[in-house]
Amino acid sequence: MKKIGVIFLLLGLYATYSCWVYTAGTSCNIVMTEAAKEGKLLWQINNCQSCHQLYGLGGYMGPDLTLITTTKRGGEKYTKGMLLNGGTRMPNFHFSPDEADAIIAYLSYVGNTAITITK
Ligand code: HEC
Repeated sequence: MKKIGVIFLLLGLYATYSCWVYTAGTSCNIVMTEAAKEGKLLWQINNCQSCHQLYGLGGYMGPDLTLITTTKRGGEKYTKGMLLNGGTRMPNFHFSPDEADAIIAYLSYVGNTAITITK
């Protein structure tokens, strides 16, 4: 009878641990602004994901853009310049400054919701 008790105790601990592992860190208090929603739509319409990754997922022709607006390497001004002019292989989408700002708002939302060890 004692063995059964130990088994149920272990099962209970396993279930508790599983619940904790699968729910910890899944809530997010960062709300997507209207501008960021517009930027997300532009991101989807222009299929940026075919060349770029967000959170490590996407195409591999261009760099991962998860932290492009939130780290020193990129930043908002640099990103805006790239969006308005394109690059050597990055297409010029002829965005208006407002559209570029909306995409930057979306990329900032992405950057702020990313879990990283280096920011
Ligand atoms: C055809 C592939 C392609 C598509 C589609 C594309 N990009 Fe790019 N992008 C690139 C490449 C390649 C680079 C690297 C710079 C270069 O070679 O021009 C780049 C660079 C960038 C950069 C600068 C990143 C850095 O680390 O320097 C930003 C920001 C960017 N792209 C945003 C976007 C957005 C937003 C879209 C959608 C509207 C988009 N890209 C669509 C290929 C693409």
